[in-house]
Amino acid sequence: EKAGYDHFMLKEIHEQPEALRRAISGRLSIDNQEVILDELKLSSEELAGYERIYIVACGTAYHSGLVAKYLIEDLVKIPVEVDIASEFRYRDPLVSQDTLVIVVSQSGETADTLAAVREAQDKGARVLAISNVVGSTIPREADDVIYIHAGPEIAVASTKAYINMLMVFYLLAIRLAQIKESISQEKAVELIADLKNIPNQAAQIIKDSEELFKEFAGDYAEHENAFFIGRGLDYAVALEGALKLKEISYLHAASYPAGELKHGTLALIEEDVPVVALATQKSVLDKTLSNIQEVQARGASVTGVVLNKKEEVVDALDHVIEIPETEELLTSILTVIPLQLLAYYVAVEKGCDVDQPRNLAKSVTVE
Ligand code: F6R
Repeated sequence: EKAGYDHFMLKEIHEQPEALRRAISGRLSIDNQEVILDELKLSSEELAGYERIYIVACGTAYHSGLVAKYLIEDLVKIPVEVDIASEFRYRDPLVSQDTLVIVVSQSGETADTLAAVREAQDKGARVLAISNVVGSTIPREADDVIYIHAGPEIAVASTKAYINMLMVFYLLAIRLAQIKESISQEKAVELIADLKNIPNQAAQIIKDSEELFKEFAGDYAEHENAFFIGRGLDYAVALEGALKLKEISYLHAASYPAGELKHGTLALIEEDVPVVALATQKSVLDKTLSNIQEVQARGASVTGVVLNKKEEVVDALDHVIEIPETEELLTSILTVIPLQLLAYYVAVEKGCDVDQPRNLAKSVTVE
């Protein structure tokens, strides 16, 4: 049932282009004019009325919410708060009828996320669930649900569910922006056209990065620590990359907004320390490139994930993965793929139990 792959995780990484196609299927009009989210019971008027969004989830699902914050704030121009479910449920969160609470859960059964649904509803908020498992508890208790249609995810480390969560957030952000008229129709059409390209671009990046990481995962496997840096959306993805590496290959990995390094962490950068630098955000590219130079000057071995190999600094990197050209806001799905493959090949190199990492369970139904 692994369809010829050594592990479910690798199979699921390879299924991502197909999973993405399912997530957008029927949800983008043929003329690229519209995002269609028929399953929402919330009317356009109700959606337009929200001036604040709260996203609550755990682990990888929480990381999808961090990407969503950038997207929604950029496109919809309303503030988005993102919280970890186990924090949210115990801290008397500031939500009310005026807040749309979005919970994200692949399994739909995570205990803390379910408790967050109930907490939000008790406070009078309407809850929209984003989930993979049809009929699971969280979608049943939520007021609205959008399914991500990633298909069954068996490996403990989430891959295709994460990128499909991102895809659903892209759809939702564009839909909200159209309803609120916070972006021009022209811009919406451009974004929709770019979204339709993402599945093919995902297939391309799997191919490119797999070849590279098969070769040099061994370099990473020798280390105990790795760092992930990026700015903006790249930082949100860096957090997910670091989690994958910790979870399945047992390296200690930490991720930082690139501009934060000099406020402490730079002290840890020494000869040969592996750093994964995400530099796909054009608006802060120069800043990120100079942070890359800072770690290189201290001897770090840098793997760059970039939009354009032409930059000078990129020539000096130890390894480079180039992301196919897309709108800056939409890069995250593509950027995370090399990070998943890096974690996978490092784990294989170290002989770790990739699909069943120690101490972890696929669905966390107890606190
Ligand atoms: C990491 C991972 C976990 C889950 C988290 C939430 O790879 O899979 O961090 O994302 O346990 O699970 P769901 O999405 O089922 O609520």
